[in-house]
Amino acid sequence: MEAFVGGLPKVELHLHIEGTLEPEMMFRLAERNGVALPFASVDEVRRAYEFTDLQSFLDIYYQGAAVLRTEADFYDLMWAYLERAAADNVRHAEMFFDPQTHTERGIGFPVFMAGFAQARADARERLGITTHLIMCFLRHLSGEAALDTLEEARPFFGEIIGVGLDSGERGNPPQKFVEAFTRARKAGLRAVAHAGEEGPPEYIRDSLDLLGAERIDHGVACEQEEALVERLAAEGIALTVCPLSNMKLQVFPDLRDHNLRRLLQRGVRITINSDDPAYFGGYVGDNYLAAQRALGLTREELATIARNGIEAAFLDDGRRAELLAELEGYLARG
Ligand code: HPA
Ligand code: ZN
Repeated sequence: MEAFVGGLPKVELHLHIEGTLEPEMMFRLAERNGVALPFASVDEVRRAYEFTDLQSFLDIYYQGAAVLRTEADFYDLMWAYLERAAADNVRHAEMFFDPQTHTERGIGFPVFMAGFAQARADARERLGITTHLIMCFLRHLSGEAALDTLEEARPFFGEIIGVGLDSGERGNPPQKFVEAFTRARKAGLRAVAHAGEEGPPEYIRDSLDLLGAERIDHGVACEQEEALVERLAAEGIALTVCPLSNMKLQVFPDLRDHNLRRLLQRGVRITINSDDPAYFGGYVGDNYLAAQRALGLTREELATIARNGIEAAFLDDGRRAELLAELEGYLARG
């Protein structure tokens, strides 16, 4: 099973690039940039990764991002992720970034966008991995701040496939961001949103109806509303599920209780992703394997999940057909 999962051609659709900052790189960049860290060692950082909920993680995650300062830092961060993703046979990745985490510290779009562009070009050329960028608005900040961020990003729209919504979910409903999403979609950007991770099922509904979200990130709370599960299945809306994240943030403290297999069996387009792999103890291959072991997923179910990822990606028809053919070839050889 490990070899089967390892070789499965994968698409990753829920990955925060700031969440791929491994403690070793955190220390290296802190030293390079003269940034003081509140930790004495890599071990101490890892020991601090005991989360009780989403907010307890976000506090440490935003603190860690403070070491990212130069174009080279953002390049190194993204290149390290893409090299690691290649080892899991990730063939296409749609990566989130949180511009407000950086602009609030005085690091502007030209700095991180240049680092990202070079890493993506190198990944295409040296690893054969295609990538997209999705810009997330921080939902604990205001709708006006999201609008300002969207305008700052406008010169870079050619490099951004879509917008997303992340950070603390409870008390920060999709309604706050209707204008930012409407304007983004008018400019031709695609839309996704985190919803139903810690928040209620109506945040999933409102993300679809008010923000025009085409995929839902996490979305596991849909199961609380029968009609919503039926709607997601009928409309083919993908959920970008992140099993190890859900376990670490106590959404499903025991992975054996995770609902992804039930939802899959009910026809919901489930995908498996890593969210913030440096913080949650595993990259996408680890997430596939952990879910397989905890829930007894079959090869056919794993193949469906991989296929769902290809189908739900914001790919052009040519690349989508290429990846589907690659997957079917792999399964036929199985
Ligand atoms: N949820 C909300 N915000 C986030 C997450 C998440 O899983 N990861 C990084 N920012
Ligand atoms: Zn996420």
